[in-house]
Order: sequence, then structure tokens, then C-alpha cells
Amino acid sequence: MRKIIIDTDTGSDDAVALVMALRDPSVRVLAFTTVSGNINVDQATYNALQSIEYANTYKPPVYKGIARPLCFESENASQVHGIDGMGDVGFRAPTQKEESEHAVDALIRIIGAGEGDIELITIGPLTNIAVAMLQAPEVMRKIPHITIMGGANFFSNPHTPCAEFNIMADPDAAAIVCNFGVPFTMVTLEACQVNGAPLTDEEIDQTRAAGETAAFCMDCNCTTYDLAEKVYGYRELELPDPVTYAVFSNPDLIKTSFPAETHVERGGTFTRGTTVFRKKKTIFEERDLKINSTIVTEVYGQAYKAFQYDLIKD
Ligand code: BDR
Ligand code: CA
Repeated sequence: MRKIIIDTDTGSDDAVALVMALRDPSVRVLAFTTVSGNINVDQATYNALQSIEYANTYKPPVYKGIARPLCFESENASQVHGIDGMGDVGFRAPTQKEESEHAVDALIRIIGAGEGDIELITIGPLTNIAVAMLQAPEVMRKIPHITIMGGANFFSNPHTPCAEFNIMADPDAAAIVCNFGVPFTMVTLEACQVNGAPLTDEEIDQTRAAGETAAFCMDCNCTTYDLAEKVYGYRELELPDPVTYAVFSNPDLIKTSFPAETHVERGGTFTRGTTVFRKKKTIFEERDLKINSTIVTEVYGQAYKAFQYDLIKD
């Protein structure tokens, strides 16, 4: 069974990914660590506990992490996820409490005690992970692989003209993680937007009817699909973090990916937070590329949605 830690800025699509992980028989979640991003870190922590409550399986510890990006403040995404990050629905309060240990300390302690077999999935800004890497590099090098929801490959609709939210929210942290030396898979924003990956109006309703947990997974995303209706004129639901979790659990769901030397733009007047995916060296370069990542740009949409539905339905 694969052992995982998920680092999350728990807003509404994170919540679905957390539920999927807790209901996935092929993994054991050792911990959830939280970070500021979609919403402030206190609310993200509460939302993670609430997701555990509604997953209705086992209860991994939840550790609260860093409250702000490394260098510059960043806006949250309440216009996409609601004031509480969970669609402002008013779900019941979780029974579980957060742990007193800090997320960064917990990451270092748990990974340090492992045998190099604990994988990391990140579905928020990379602040906690970067700080843990700076604080305990030998320990963090034990991580065999990181699956990151982040980055944009420029052929769709990132959050700014150049950047996807998780990277844009803390580009300095993302740059540290990319340069650190642990190989990673980056599931880009496009992967949840193309090839039928968004849930249709009908699929949202079908899923909502599949039990309390599935209804929670849809209803907490109501701000997101209402926004889609306002912007596109029809209701649909893009779920970047669940797509990322699905790809982690079942790589056969990947339709298009490529190896790259990935960097994050930390400066730039308009381009801070841009992910730069280098696929081949220029004719002027002598050094070979240092491939550090696999970039996922497309999944098999119907297969991903079936995988997700099977995990969250009762
Ligand atoms: C990412 O930002 C947030 O809106 C989602 O939770 C996801 O992690 C997508 O760009
Ligand atoms: Ca997220």
C-alpha cells in the first residue's frame, strides 16, 4: 500500500481530493498538512478536518502550516471557492481537532521516520514544502517523488495571463521545490480543462445523488460551478486537485505528458509565477538539460471521472 502525505490549502476542489485519498484502498494517508492559498490557513485546516468528517473513513492527523507566502502577500481565491473556501454551504462541524505540531515539523518528522517510501502530493502553494526542504534537506531528499498540482502550459486559461494559482501564490517556494532534486510530476491546469475532464451539468447532478459524501463533494464546489455559469454561460466543474490525485493513484489516466527541465519565473513584470518547461536545449547550449519533472497536460476525461465517482459514491 502506498503511503502518502497531502499538503493542501483546502478549498472546495482540495476537499474532493482529500475524500478520494481517504477512500482509495491503494493508499494510506499518513497526514494532511495545510497551507495558506485558496483561503487562510486556519480555515484551510478546518476545511481539511471537515473533509475527513464527510469522507467517513479513517482520520489521519491534520497539521496546520504556514500562513503566508515566503516573500510577498498573495490574494486568496474566495471568488472561486466561497468565503469559507467550501461554497458557504454550512456543513456540519468536524469532530476531529487539528494537531498542535506545526506542519513543517510534522513533515520532517514523518518523512524522517519513514524508509524513503512516503510520497508527497501537493495541491496548494508550495510554502510548507520549500521551508521543510530548507530546514531539513537530507530528510526531504528521502521523498521518492512529488505529485504537484500546479503550472500552466499556456494553451488554456491560467489565473493570470501567465501563471496558475498554486505557483503564482508562492513562486519563490515553487522555485525552491523545482530546484531541490526530488523528481516531480506537475499536473497542469490544462489537464483539468481539456478532453472532457470538467464535470458537466448532468454529471454534477448525478454525482450529487450518489450519497452524502458525493453530495458534499459537489455542494462544496457550488461557488465554482456558479462562477462557470456566469463566465461561460453553462454550468460545469473543473477539479484540478482531484485530477491530480487521480493521476497520482492511477497514472494510466494520463493521456499526454512530457519530460521537462522545469523552472519557475520569480521575477518579471508580468510573468512572476510562470512555469517554464524546457523540452530541449537550444543550439547555443553546451550543457544537457537536467530533466527534473514530468508535465501532465491531458487526462482521459471520462476515465478520470469514472475513477473519481467510484471513490466518492456511497
Ligand atoms: C489550484 O488553485 C486552486 O484554485 C485549486 O484548489 C487548485 O489547487 C488550481 O489552479
Ligand atoms: Ca488547492
